[in-house]
Amino acid sequence: MKNPKIVSGFSKKSKRGKLRWLVENFFKHPEEVARELKSFWYGDPQKQKIFDEFSENTITNFYMPYGVLPNLKINDEVYCVPMVIEESSVVAAASAAAKFWLNRGGFKTEVLTTKKVGQVHFDWKGKRKTLEALMPKIKQLIHTETSHITANMRKRGGGILDIELLDMSDLEPNYFQLQMTFETCDSMGANFINSVLEESARSLKQFIGSQEQLPAEERELTIIMAILSNYTPECLVRASVECPIEELGNFCDGDMPAEEFARKFEKALNIARIDTYRATTHNKGIFNGIDAVVIATGNDFRAVEACGHAYAARDGKYRSLSFAECKDGIFKFWLDIPLAVGTVGGLTALHPMAKRSLEMLGQPSAEELMQIIAATGLAQNFAAVRSLVTTGIQKGHMKMHLMNILNHLEATEKEVKEALVYFADKLVSFSSVREFIQLLRSTPEGMPLPLPIMIERKKS
Ligand code: MEV
Repeated sequence: MKNPKIVSGFSKKSKRGKLRWLVENFFKHPEEVARELKSFWYGDPQKQKIFDEFSENTITNFYMPYGVLPNLKINDEVYCVPMVIEESSVVAAASAAAKFWLNRGGFKTEVLTTKKVGQVHFDWKGKRKTLEALMPKIKQLIHTETSHITANMRKRGGGILDIELLDMSDLEPNYFQLQMTFETCDSMGANFINSVLEESARSLKQFIGSQEQLPAEERELTIIMAILSNYTPECLVRASVECPIEELGNFCDGDMPAEEFARKFEKALNIARIDTYRATTHNKGIFNGIDAVVIATGNDFRAVEACGHAYAARDGKYRSLSFAECKDGIFKFWLDIPLAVGTVGGLTALHPMAKRSLEMLGQPSAEELMQIIAATGLAQNFAAVRSLVTTGIQKGHMKMHLMNILNHLEATEKEVKEALVYFADKLVSFSSVREFIQLLRSTPEGMPLPLPIMIERKKS
């Protein structure tokens, strides 16, 4: 029997055709689902077309909250930073950290290096020395034959920085590599690098094939692939904050003395350096901030994440990306992270909200954006570790969780107020909040509520 869930020629169907096929084959109430999916289409069909064309087989849009992080002071400039993230508490936490550091000198950032990397991987049955001797000619040839691709980038101060031959034949038979480094100025540069690499691969193959002095076997060179590397340890930015330890006091709910807070914070960071389980969660907290800005500015968050995690494991063990130190009465906290991002080209120019994000940030250069993103990651990390070593994170999360449940139960403003007071010192669960709201709704105005409920009642 023909399986209706297998479709041929799907990509050729119109958008409405795709949607119809989908709802008719995968949902119990096709009309209702079709209406719902269409309700997320952009009102303006021209704008919707832009979104449809970013990807393939698009049938609707998937919305994410777009929030802002105000008061982020970086190198004496104050930014309002756009953040796209679905997790509650993240933007609130970063905002609290930004406000905290605003009066303590703000964040300091610097771009350490901006090199990007690309590779031509190839098979060749010969001695490394032979290729090495040909490298000056190969380099010259690659520069010449890619000049039509690199012309604009060179005008902007970028282009190919270096070309190096790597002999990896001890690890994989006949495996060599051209490792190329690039400066891509304000663009992320993925398309530019990949075009240069593919052209370089063609030139290399042709050149080796034309070397009459080589034995026939050595004139054969097989290109395996040519592609950029998302590992860019030399596209690196540092963000830091520091203040006298005594200035750390009196800000956390737990009323913890500043000295104790600083020591616990430093210890928490040391734990994240030595324990991979903790390091992963610690870095996830950093990426809560980083990804949110990367997405809001139309950059590639998968590339940034992949690179960040590889960098975190650069000495063979996965470790935290940030560090803390308490020395001579000063608390220092910093983050080194590779960030290959762009502010021109790609989605940055196409996505209407990415354009607005960059406008909000004052049309930053790629280097400025690296610094804004790193500072946001550090702010996020500071807020998370601060909560962890003082009150614990559940306190803040529980309030958000409570609000989500109250929204789900369509609580009125008055009900929300009463619930916030009642649950201020109690564990929040869906059933306890639902029971509380039911009690509120069934108790006549002015009468006392038969409280406490649920967990407390079950104990007796
Ligand atoms: C939650 O999204 C992020 C944290 O777990 C980060 C951390 O533990 O450092 C709070």
